[in-house]
Amino acid sequence: MKDVFKKLSHLDAGKVLDAATGRGDFINVIKQNFKSYEQIIGVDSSDAAVKQAQKSFPENDIELYKMNLEKLSFADSYFDTVCISNSLHHIEHKDIVFAELLRVLKKNGLLIVVEMYKDGKQTLAQQTHIAMHHWFARIDTLNNVYHWETFKREDLLNLIENLPLKNISVEDFYIPVDNPTDPKSIEPMIKNVQEWIKKCETIPEAENICCEGQKIIEKIKKDGCVSASRLFITGHKK
Ligand SMILES: C[S@@+](CC[C@H](N)C(=O)[O-])C[C@H]1O[C@@H](n2cnc3c(N)ncnc32)[C@H](O)[C@@H]1O
Repeated sequence: MKDVFKKLSHLDAGKVLDAATGRGDFINVIKQNFKSYEQIIGVDSSDAAVKQAQKSFPENDIELYKMNLEKLSFADSYFDTVCISNSLHHIEHKDIVFAELLRVLKKNGLLIVVEMYKDGKQTLAQQTHIAMHHWFARIDTLNNVYHWETFKREDLLNLIENLPLKNISVEDFYIPVDNPTDPKSIEPMIKNVQEWIKKCETIPEAENICCEGQKIIEKIKKDGCVSASRLFITGHKK
């Protein structure tokens, strides 16, 4: 894998917003890859995710809040850097959210978008990851939680090209894994799918969904499961 995040190593990130931070996994990428930062604020609409992230980041210069990206409570141009990672397919009103992300970003500030895609050349293990994601998305949708299938690469690029950004840079990357069927790495994934199967036993389409979950478990055992390819997109606000 090219170290795509390396290009951040000469940049001062300033005040950073990590939008839809979840458990804060991308906060680690920010901390580890930028030359420096002044403050990181992570926001997410899930109370549980924010509480978990707050435990993981006790630092004074990292703050986490429950907040809807459609209505951010920050002043215009507050941030030098705004990031959104692995979350676009969870966002229902992308136009509103991008308008908000760009409102709180300074002119010439840096927008970072990281997102997996479902097409192109993907190994069998990556295809398992995509199938598993789409299965999660179907269950969330049946439970009225917005979760769309992952994007096609082209659709992601179209989304970004319509934003008021300059100096747009796009890089593809994936995380290589030596042995995708290594029991140590697939066991937690199988356990996760089993937990999702349990969670969906109460929904009307349960039989079908559970059956598909079992097929995904068989595919994880046969082909492994490795992160799908992603785009790392950067651009500066015009
Ligand atoms: C896959 S998770 C986050 C991944 C994380 N950013 C990372 O890189 O590992 C997607 C997150 O989007 C959040 N989300 C979806 N819609 C949102 C909204 N309108 N406002 C804030 N958070 C939202 C969900 O609560 C969920 O935690």
